[in-house]
Amino acid sequence: MRTYLVTGGAGFIGSNYIHYMFKKYDKEIRIINVDALTYAGNPENLKSIENRDNYTFIKADICDKETISRIFAENDIDRVVHFAAESHVDRSIKNPEIFVRTNVLGTAVMLNCAQAAWELPDGTYKKDKKFLHVSTDEVYGSLEEDGGYFYETTPYAPHSPYSASKAGSDMLVRSFMDTYHFPANITNCSNNYGPYQFPEKLIPLIINNALQGKKLPVYGDGKNVRDWLYVEDHAKAIDMVQEKGRLFETYNVGGHNEKQNIEIIHIILDTLREMLSDDDPRKALVTDDLITYVEDRKGHDRRYAIAPDKIRAEIGWEPETMFKEGIKRTIQWYFEHEDWMRNVTSGEYQKYYEENYGKR
Ligand code: NAD
Ligand code: TYD
Repeated sequence: MRTYLVTGGAGFIGSNYIHYMFKKYDKEIRIINVDALTYAGNPENLKSIENRDNYTFIKADICDKETISRIFAENDIDRVVHFAAESHVDRSIKNPEIFVRTNVLGTAVMLNCAQAAWELPDGTYKKDKKFLHVSTDEVYGSLEEDGGYFYETTPYAPHSPYSASKAGSDMLVRSFMDTYHFPANITNCSNNYGPYQFPEKLIPLIINNALQGKKLPVYGDGKNVRDWLYVEDHAKAIDMVQEKGRLFETYNVGGHNEKQNIEIIHIILDTLREMLSDDDPRKALVTDDLITYVEDRKGHDRRYAIAPDKIRAEIGWEPETMFKEGIKRTIQWYFEHEDWMRNVTSGEYQKYYEENYGKR
C-alpha cells in the first residue's frame, strides 16, 4: 500500500486530487493531508472522505520544519504531492512576503525533510520514493496575443510576485534534482476550474456574483487569454506523471482551451440562463448589463497557452472534459453547494472584496 503525503489538500486542486485518488485507488492507498487551513483551505471540501481509515488530516504549516520532519519520521511516505501555496495573483500584488514564505521557504522545507527521510548513507534513495511539485504555467511569463506556446524548455520570465515565488520554488526543486539526484518531477499547469474553487478566482467569482445580480468586474479590456483545464483532468495528469513519467522531468499540463476573459464571462452568463428554470427568481438577475470594465491588474499577463505535446507523447495524457461540459458541471456543483459558497464568502471575504474591488 502506497502512502501519500499531500500538502495543501484542503484547497481547490488538492481536495479535487484527493477525491480523484480515492475514487481511483479506494483502499489501495493511504493519504496524509497536511494543510495550514489558511483562508483558502476548507475542511468542508473533504467532508465526504474524512472518516476513511486510510485518510489522515494534519493541520500544520509547511514552513514548520520540526512538524514536517516528524510526519516523515512517523510515516513511511512513498509519494509527496506538493500543492500547498499562496495561489492568488491579486493577493500577491498587495502582500508579496507571504508568497515568498509559503511558496519558496515552504517548498525548501518539504524538499529538505523528504530528502532527509529518503536518502541512504551512500547518497542513493530508498526504493520507489517520489516527490511531485505542482506548479503553474505563469512561471513562463506572458505570450503575444497572436502566437506561441509555453514548452518545458521556455525560459522562465515571471511577472507577478505569485509567479516569481512559484518560479523560485520550481528552481529549488530543480536544484535538488541536480545537486542531490533527488527523485522528483515538476508539473506546470494552466488555469484550472471546477468544484471547490475559492471565489476570488475568475470563474467562481463570476458565477457567484451573477447569481446575486452583482457587478462582474472585468480587468482592463477583457481580452487577456487563459488556457482553461477542468480540475479533474489536472488531478489525473499529476497521478499519471508520478506513475508513468520519467523522473527528473518537467511536464506541462494544458488542454489547448484558450479563451479571452470576456468570452468566459459570456459563456458563464449563457450557461446560467440555460440551466436556471424560468420560475427561478435568479434568472432575471443574470443579465449582460452586469459586466463592468474596471481598472486593470498591475503587470497583467496578456496570454498563457500550454503546449502539452510532451505529456501526450510520453505519458498518453489528454484532457477528457471539454469546456462546454466542464463549465456546466462546475455551475451545477455551485448550484448544489450554496451553503459552501455562503460560508466561504462571509466574514473575511467581504473585507478582501472591498479592498480589491472597492477602489477599482
Ligand atoms: P488554493 O489557494 O485553493 O489552495 C492552497 C492550499 O494550501 C490551501 O488549502 C491552504 O490552506 C494551503 N496552504 C497555504 N499555505 C500553507 C502553508 N504555509 N502550509 C500548509 N498549507 C498551506 O490553491 P490551488 O488553486 O488549489 O493551487 C494548488 C497548487 O496548484 C498551487 O501550488 C498552485 O500554484 C498550483 N496551480 C494552481 C492553478 C490554478 O489554476 N488554481 C494552476 C496551476 C497550478
Ligand atoms: P484568475 O482567476 O485570478 O487567475 P490568474 O490570474 O492566475 O490567471 O484570473 C483569470 C483572468 O481573469 C486573469 O486574466 C485576470 C482576470 N480577472 C478579471 O478580469 N476579473 C476578476 O475579478 C478576476 C478575479 C480575474
